[in-house]
This record gives sequence, structure tokens and C-alpha cells, in this order.
Amino acid sequence: MNSQNIFILGIESSCDDTAASVIHNGRILSNVVANQKIHEAYGGVVPELASRAHQQNIVPVVHQAIKEAGITKEDLNAVSFTRGPGLMGSLLVGTSFAKSLAYGLNIPLIDVNHMQAHILAHYIDEAGFKKPPFPFLAMTISGGHTQIVKVNHYFDMKVIGETIDDAVGEAFDKSGKILGLGYPAGPEIDKRSKLGNPKAFKFTKPKVDALNFSFSGLKTAILYFVQRETKANPNFVEENLNDICASIQHTIIGILIDKLKKASKETGIKHIAIGGGVSANSGIRQALKDGEQKFGWTTYIPKFEYTTDNAAMIAIVGYLKYLESDFSKQNVMASARLKI
Ligand code: KG4
Ligand code: ZN
Repeated sequence: MNSQNIFILGIESSCDDTAASVIHNGRILSNVVANQKIHEAYGGVVPELASRAHQQNIVPVVHQAIKEAGITKEDLNAVSFTRGPGLMGSLLVGTSFAKSLAYGLNIPLIDVNHMQAHILAHYIDEAGFKKPPFPFLAMTISGGHTQIVKVNHYFDMKVIGETIDDAVGEAFDKSGKILGLGYPAGPEIDKRSKLGNPKAFKFTKPKVDALNFSFSGLKTAILYFVQRETKANPNFVEENLNDICASIQHTIIGILIDKLKKASKETGIKHIAIGGGVSANSGIRQALKDGEQKFGWTTYIPKFEYTTDNAAMIAIVGYLKYLESDFSKQNVMASARLKI
């Protein structure tokens, strides 16, 4: 299939990371991400600041990705970019830049759905990582998304479950905020969970229909729990931080695994892939491994740099669409609420 030499540039700017990557016949040559530290001070992403930072970062980030790939922009066969979903101001920066670059180089422009890209990141050629066979179930878990998708083929996907309120990463981050941890709190909760007792405190799991998720009730339950306990003991959080973190993480993982089990049972599919920043969580990784033993699952977790927001995943989708000559028109528009 790869007798040709195809170089695709991927550009990602849907949220707070400005990223660019070059892929050559399915293998990543460069993967550059500029994180926007500015949001840490606000405990969350500030859309207006994000789009301004993208404006500043995009030219140097793209330049670096091309340089690290050891090619020149004239070697590129196409430019792929994130069309949505995401923050409109952020998406507009990447979209406009990609259009201009493709137009200037007179090469095809390829729009990419960010959620499909999180899933198709599994098809990047990477030594030691296997690619899931179709059909498989993909669970995308991050600060912005929580979805279970039935993937029949590259571009034949169906969302079979999603959150009706907060994303799972937000559940980690907002719980962390209540506990006085920094942003994003997911990694620290994970670290502390290893030192705590996951059964120390019990938080009720939400009852949500079908394969959907809800995390806002859990956040409120944690807030009331902390308020109640600190009234009795002002040092409660300090003295029990590892146990509280472990209990929160245990509850969140339980919610995710329950729905995955249900999805696997209902569809009869046992190939399970995850993606998104929360897939870095050691507890969810362990729970998936346990699922291999207990339920006969085969599980797939991409290399970490391809699982948080990145442009390599945009480049692989660009490559797959390029092979099908699935190109975009110059009047394609960014779409904040683009669906799978
Ligand atoms: O995919 P990502 O980098 O960006 C988007 O949100 O799209 O995901 C970031 C999210 C944050 O909510 C962060 O707290 C969470 O992933 N996260 C983790 C861990 N590492 C990152 N959550 C739990 N455990 C982790 N080890
Ligand atoms: Zn994402």
C-alpha cells in the first residue's frame, strides 16, 4: 500500500495545546506540542487566552515540526487540521492557518474530527503497539471528553455512550480543586491513590441510563463530604488526603469499567481501546489489565504522547483520508460541536 512517499502535516488547536506533527506513510517523524501554562493560574482553560496563545505559538510549532521531521514544507503532500469539536476561537486559529498553508503550497487540505482522531491514534505505526482489529470499542477519556464509541471501520463509528455533564478528567480536576490540589489534579490524585486505601471512604456511583455517564453528582458529593468532615476536624483533608484520593479514583474507575463491561456485553465486542489524557491513570490501566483476565478482553492503550491532545493523531487521520483522496474544500469551516 505504501509504495508512495506520503508526508502529511497535522495541526491541532482545539483546546489549550498548540500542536503540529509530520507523518510519513503512517509513521510519526515529529510531534511537537506547546502547552499553555497560562491556564494553571485560573484552575481551568480560559478560551480567550487559549486562542491568543495559539496565535503566538502556531508558526513556531509548525516550523519546528517540519524541521524535526527533516523535510521542507515543499515535501508535504497535504495539510490536515482539527475542524472540531473544541473551543471556537482556538479552532479558528488552526483552521485558518491550515487553509492558508495548503493554499500557498497548492496541496490538498484535509479536515479532521478531533474525537475520531483520538480513536484513530491507535493506527499510528509504532513499534511495540498493536492496532485494534475492527470492530472494537473505544473509550475516550480526557478533560474534555468521555465517550464510548463502537468503531466498525476507520470512518464508520457510532457513539454508544457519553457523559451527560462533566467529562471524567473534570471529575478528577474538580475533586482536586475541592481538596486544594493544583490544576490539572488528575496526575496527583493518581500518585496519591497509590499510597491510600481505595475503600476508606465510600461515594455513591450515579445512576445513569444505558451507556451514558454523569460525573457532576460525584463532585457535589465530594464537596459536601469534605465540608461535613472538616467541620468536625479542620485538618481532615490534610490527615486523610491519600485515602480520599484513592477513594475518589476507585469510584471514578468503577463508573468507567461498569459501563465498559455493559458495552462489551451488549455488543459482544471484546477488543477495547482507550485514549485521552485520563488513560494515563494507573488505576484505569490496571482495571483494563484485570478485564483481560476476568472478561477475556484484549485492551489497547496508545503511546502516551499520542493519547493526550496532540497533532500526531491529526496527522494519522490526514494520512488515512489522503489514501482515500478524501479532501476538504477551501471554504470548510471550524465546527465547535462537530459530531463523530
Ligand atoms: O487529553 P488531555 O491532555 O486534554 C484534554 O482534556 O483534552 O487530558 C487532560 C486530562 C486532565 O483532566 C487531567 O487531570 C487528566 O487528563 N489526567 C489524569 C492523569 N493524567 C492526566 N487523570 C487521572 N490520572 C492521571 N494519571
Ligand atoms: Zn482531546
